[in-house]
Amino acid sequence: MDTAPPLRSQLDRRRFVKSVSAAGMGMATLKNAPLLHAGTITDTSRRKRYAMVGVGIRQTMFQDAIEVRFPEHAEIVGLCDVNQGRLKLAQSRSRRNGAKVPPIYLASDFSRMLRETRPDTVIVTTVDATHDEYMIRAMESGCDVITEKPMTTTAEKCQRILDAKARTGRNIKVTFNYRYSPMRTQVKELLMSGEIGDVLSVDFRWMLNTLHGADYFRRWHAHKEHSGGLMVHKATHHFDLLNWWLSDVPELVFATGKREFYTPKTARRFGLSGQQERCLTCTEIADCNFYLDLNSREYLKTLYLENEYYDGYLRDRCIWRPEVDIEDTMNVLVTYRSGITLTYSLNAFSPWSGYIAIFNGTLGRLEHTVVERAYMSGDGTVQGGLARGGVTTRTLPLRDSPTEHTPWKSEGPHAGGDKLMMEDLFLPNQPADKYLRASDERGGAASILVGVAANHCFETGLPVKISDLVSGFKAPDLPPGPSRTGPLPMPPPIENINT
Ligand SMILES: NC(=O)c1ccc[n+]([C@@H]2O[C@H](COP(=O)([O-])OP(=O)(O)OC[C@H]3O[C@@H](n4cnc5c(N)ncnc54)[C@H](O)[C@@H]3O)[C@@H](O)[C@H]2O)c1
Repeated sequence: MDTAPPLRSQLDRRRFVKSVSAAGMGMATLKNAPLLHAGTITDTSRRKRYAMVGVGIRQTMFQDAIEVRFPEHAEIVGLCDVNQGRLKLAQSRSRRNGAKVPPIYLASDFSRMLRETRPDTVIVTTVDATHDEYMIRAMESGCDVITEKPMTTTAEKCQRILDAKARTGRNIKVTFNYRYSPMRTQVKELLMSGEIGDVLSVDFRWMLNTLHGADYFRRWHAHKEHSGGLMVHKATHHFDLLNWWLSDVPELVFATGKREFYTPKTARRFGLSGQQERCLTCTEIADCNFYLDLNSREYLKTLYLENEYYDGYLRDRCIWRPEVDIEDTMNVLVTYRSGITLTYSLNAFSPWSGYIAIFNGTLGRLEHTVVERAYMSGDGTVQGGLARGGVTTRTLPLRDSPTEHTPWKSEGPHAGGDKLMMEDLFLPNQPADKYLRASDERGGAASILVGVAANHCFETGLPVKISDLVSGFKAPDLPPGPSRTGPLPMPPPIENINT
């Protein structure tokens, strides 16, 4: 039988939750902060001022982009986090980048940071469930917002963001980097071209291997109150890709989900107790091939281990511990406004990482497969890097020969997506984008609400209408796809079917 987690584990977790919610309480008192900016920045000759909240691993990408790649266009004017140690590390990074060292603020001083540093835009890279508070307070203070995915984790928080956006008129950008990976833009191009006609259904399966997948069960991601579970935290990428690829808006969701691999029971079947608090103090490391040694990875050590006493954030919790409350196996059915139907699955304990996407159109089928290289956050591996020859994209017309498409060159983190997205965010006067890859709160909502709906289904066993989750949700701007009603060329005669 599963036993309760050790007391120290509970205390550390409580301390972490407390530090996160204490920051939230500070927010409540500062909602009426004065507007800092009355208008939109139009003077592109001056550098844009960015304040950042959340200085964990993902923030470094934005910091390096601003300080190393685009210093003539952008500057960091303030850094904020609950963790003093990580704030100091972020300052050291600025020093190493040869940039002016920005002042640091604890989360309880977020509004003071906005008043003192007067940013144009706040970049939010905190724990997912805290995005909404910072986004709303930034907008109410007259700032624009760039937020990491997922935009937020629940329908209520999403509603608050949509309301604040409508009230303040500020701009929100949600950083869906997958849209920018060239080989995924190529899929968009093929779908827009009408080569397979208009899409009627999609089959999409995402796999996380037991390096990347297991890692979500070690950190804050393992608790829905912080991440919304993998349906929100991870699948927001996938649902956004699908919404964008299909140029459509999800309407109805049905889903099942369970956690059956990362459990104390599976640990016992592997010969472990499954009751450990964390790898650092684990007595079974010789027997557990999921063991993570923070001391052996310099970056994980300096970013998390050496700063954990500030907030109780343990980076190497036991993946088998009973109090995890997210799923590792998820199956979802989605119906889109146009009638397109989607079958989606996410598996977090697969032998390989990547995905298989199949689009069934009126004129044929598009099959797109991506195999990613092994990756774990912070261990020096490249997130979303591609295995050699890992991308295949082919179109199969009805009753005709398939075409293999040479993948558009996609190198670097998130298959080149991060680099291109940074240019789109920080370079002024970007040319018009026929693929409309930049996303705002409407795209952010359209994506997370599928995951939120799926989470509801897990609890109730009932389908959920997206329109029942929030009010005032408007469809995002998406490039037009092929006509769903116009004339279609008749496929070749039946003799052409050779298999
Ligand atoms: N687009 C992508 O591919 C991608 C990749 C990784 C992470 N992310 C997103 O970036 C964000 C950060 O993820 P990460 O991997 O850097 O996590 P992380 O744990 O490394 O960093 C999170 C940071 O937020 C801070 N924090 C926690 N609660 C806070 C609060 N209430 N106020 C202020 N700061 C707080 C923590 O101290 C920590 O420094 C998440 O939203 C995540 O989903 C996106």
